Amino acid sequence: MTLSLTLVQGAYIVAGLLFILALAGLSRHETARAGNRYGVIGMGIALVITVLAAVGGIDAAPLGKGGPDRAGSGALGLGLIVAAMAIGAAIGIWRAKRVEMTGMPELIALLHSFVGLAAVLVGWNSSYEVAAYPKIHDIEVFVGVFIGAVTLTGSIVAYLKLSAKIKSAPLVLPARHALNLGIIVTFVVMTIAYVVTPHSSMGVRQGLLGVMTLLALFLGWHLVMSIGGGDMPVVVSMLNSYSGWAAAAAGFLLGNDLLIITGALVGSSGAYLSYIMCRAMNRSFISVIAGGFGVEAGTSSGDTDYGEHREITAEGAAALLGDARSVVITPGYGMATAQAQYAVADLTRRLRDRGVNVRFGIHPVAGRLPGHMNVLLAEAKVPYDIVLEMDEINDDLADTDVVLVIGANDTVNPAALDDPGSPIAGMPVLHVWEAKDVIVFKRSMATGYAGVQNPLFFKENSQMLFGDAKARVEDIIAAL
Ligand code: TAP
Repeated sequence: MTLSLTLVQGAYIVAGLLFILALAGLSRHETARAGNRYGVIGMGIALVITVLAAVGGIDAAPLGKGGPDRAGSGALGLGLIVAAMAIGAAIGIWRAKRVEMTGMPELIALLHSFVGLAAVLVGWNSSYEVAAYPKIHDIEVFVGVFIGAVTLTGSIVAYLKLSAKIKSAPLVLPARHALNLGIIVTFVVMTIAYVVTPHSSMGVRQGLLGVMTLLALFLGWHLVMSIGGGDMPVVVSMLNSYSGWAAAAAGFLLGNDLLIITGALVGSSGAYLSYIMCRAMNRSFISVIAGGFGVEAGTSSGDTDYGEHREITAEGAAALLGDARSVVITPGYGMATAQAQYAVADLTRRLRDRGVNVRFGIHPVAGRLPGHMNVLLAEAKVPYDIVLEMDEINDDLADTDVVLVIGANDTVNPAALDDPGSPIAGMPVLHVWEAKDVIVFKRSMATGYAGVQNPLFFKENSQMLFGDAKARVEDIIAAL
């Protein structure tokens, strides 16, 4: 069945609006579910219309547009699309069902790499049919393949770093910034060469495209390899943005307006998220997207002797909490791995029932995903109004009786403020050490994600409560 161009474009506008509503909804807890639904409906409409148009073809006559209608691919095309979708959906459902919440960032990074790969393949495919298109198409091919290739290898490195398959410490090659700049300049020069080379010189053009693809693959790898530890959250959202631009580039190549709109929405929202995270972490946006430009790698060895740490038992912690009037809980990645959020919510309820003022302090990059801690606490039904951002709680910590640091490490590390040579120097942190007493829940004296020692553990008012966070919180509840 041939679809009219009016119907296709109308459906694409509706889908685009639903995607905008989805983004708006996802920005607040209360509206996140509705936002998710808008996104699903929008994507459903987009998929059905795109597949029908691809199979049946598009008739441009109703809009009075001249030029050839787009022919459909017929029954064979439908069979191929359905088979590809079935295989993709089966793998997607299998992975989504198996993934732990703590494994989401690496799964997302891997998915970004697929978008990059798709853009590279679409670009290469289009490069064989450029003779039928105007010159601007050459630029679209070159830029599309470049963004796609950077996204592809950058996302694979992010996946390997986040899943701890390779070290998260930054790779510092000699003259690394000159290398990155050299590749960008070469890319611009090669784009011009590609555009001016006549279509008849196919060998030269494909050679240029091939060399540029290899350079872009190297650039993506290098940009993310040179970003270390604490800055990885920004890299993930930046790759999210790149994957959007790669999809938009593929949209130009395929002449698909919805892919351009969706890619631009993902690209710009990802870029904005990266910017917000850079501000929250006191990092320069330009520096991070340019592979750590202008930032010297941390020089601190991190093996300073801070003295002895002190330990506390669950009963001791329960006694401190029993006497407290105000308690702040600062959760981190360890709360997610221990799945301690339900026990933490239970402890919160019990303390509040005793009249204790309990609040949460959430660092913008606590855990491994933007909003990771908020999602876990919402899942355990902790009231939103006691879950505060780092900036909202930091000034109150000095007047707090007890801070419970539950599986957090880098986000409560005073070295970020006191040690200019530390890899996390300059990153704002929760000032938990200003409270009267601090209890740190973790299993050992091991370092956090950024791999740096934490002087908090050795402070006079800090006590370590060793063991799995969920088990220890449950012990405290029993002792209370
Ligand atoms: P981390 O610095 O990652 O430290 C987590 C701590 O939890 C570890 O020291 C670990 O110590 C402890 N832990 C692990 N499993 C535990 C369990 N079952 N029970 C009790 N404790 C457990 O955590 P953070 O403070 O949340 O900081 C997040 C870090 O990840 C930052 O460096 C951030 O830049 C980075 N990062 C964040 C994101 C986003 S978007 N949020 C993405 C990528 C990277 P033990 O092993 O001794 O138990």
